[in-house]
Formats: sequence, structure tokens, C-alpha cells
Amino acid sequence: MRPKHLKAPFKWQQRQVTIEDRIWYIPKCSEEDPFVFPGWTSALTFAKTQPLQVEFCSGNGDWIIAKALAHPEKNWVAIEKKFPRVRKIWSKLKNHGIGNLLVICGEGHQAVKRYFLDQSIEAVYVNFPDPWPKNAHAKHRLIQPSFIAEVARCMQLGGSLTLATDDICYSQKAIEEILQSRYFTSNFPSPFYLNKMEGYGSSFFEDLWRGQGKEIRYHQFKLIANGDNKTNG
Ligand SMILES: C[S@@+](CC[C@H](N)C(=O)[O-])C[C@H]1O[C@@H](n2cnc3c(N)ncnc32)[C@H](O)[C@@H]1O
Repeated sequence: MRPKHLKAPFKWQQRQVTIEDRIWYIPKCSEEDPFVFPGWTSALTFAKTQPLQVEFCSGNGDWIIAKALAHPEKNWVAIEKKFPRVRKIWSKLKNHGIGNLLVICGEGHQAVKRYFLDQSIEAVYVNFPDPWPKNAHAKHRLIQPSFIAEVARCMQLGGSLTLATDDICYSQKAIEEILQSRYFTSNFPSPFYLNKMEGYGSSFFEDLWRGQGKEIRYHQFKLIANGDNKTNG
């Protein structure tokens, strides 16, 4: 299967939330959509109840495809908003015959807020999110207080939130906001990141930035208190 073999199941004007052929489409402008999430264990999602791992900003999916293959004892969810990149993940998923991976084609924060069940996720990974370095664009950053609260609602106590980034400002801001929330503590001592994480896996952007000699920062936080409210982020 090649990426182009994945066709969207609707015309753009008739877009709707739907799960089809391992892709969960959550297009914008569907607040009134009648879709009801069938839960993580249904014919449309995962065949087996297994610990759930979610990656935000999956890009072309190199990282999560390797993880899903290496850990069939877990269920994996990739979240990527750009359809051309979702197609690339789907093509790899099909060619490897991976059954323990579902791809969400949509915006991560909205997907979590609208559909993810309380305390249903064991681990969350955010790999090289777009940094949006200008203050005027800060609202586009994925990691911000409302997102942190949503993740804390969906995760199981003791679960982990891992962030990999090459952007020093993003790293500093994320550390500040995550530790200021009452939900997480750092698994790493001050300054709360490592530059190498053995066995973490690699991605397109990690390889790119490493090749250019950039510093990579890995952060990992443990959930110590659940967020209880749906947010307005
Ligand atoms: C810099 S790329 C990193 C891709 C991949 N993680 C890697 O390391 O190669 C960031 C990706 O996140 C996606 N993205 C950014 N914000 C997102 C959001 N709020 N929800 C879902 N995907 C998002 C972008 O479309 C892009 O593919």
C-alpha cells in the first residue's frame, strides 16, 4: 500500500467524525457531529484491551510504527492533523500489518477533550511538536495549561508524559507549565530533562535535528493527580 491509496471517506463539504480502516477522522467544524465514540475496545478501535499509549504530533509515523511493532502487548494511538502525513502512517501500518495502532487524523487537543475517556491512558508522548516561537503565535502551541489539564484527566495515576523537543524555549516553557500544574512531577532531577534517552526510538525530525548538531531535550513527568474538568482550550 502506498500513501495515495488512502482516500478520505467523505467529500470535504460532508466531512464528519468517523472511524474507518484504522483511521479516526476528527475534522474541524464538527461540534454538532452525532458520532459516538465506541470506546477503546470495539471492532473499530482495538481487538484487545491493553495499556493505551498515545503519541501527539506523529508526523510521518516512524517513531510510533517502530513502537507498535516492538510492543504488541500495548495499544498505540497516533495523532496527526495533516492528512498527507496521516496517509504515510497508514501506508506503513498496512504494509506491516499492524493491528495495535489507530491513527487519529485531527487536532490533538480537541480530540482528547471531546472523546478521550477519564483515566484511560497509560502513557502520552509528544515528539517534536511545532514550536511556534513567536509570542503572537503562542496560542497554537500544543503544550499549554488547558492541554495539560486534559491529559491529566485522561491518564492513569502513575502514568507518564514524555516530551522530546529541539526547541529550548519550548522546553523551558513546558517544564514551567507542567510542573506548575498540580498534576505532574518530573521523573528527571533539575534541570528536568536529559539529552539522551536510551531506547526511546527515533523520528524523522529527531534524525534531522541531530544531524544538524542541535541539542535534543527529553522530559518525562509522572501523573500524581488527575485533572477532573473538561477545559475550554
Ligand atoms: C515538527 S513535526 C514532528 C513530527 C514527528 N513527531 C517527528 O518527530 O518526525 C510536528 C508534527 O505535528 C503535527 N501537529 C502539530 N500540531 C498538532 C496538533 N495540535 N494536533 C495534531 N498534530 C499536530 C504537524 O502537522 C507535524 O506533522
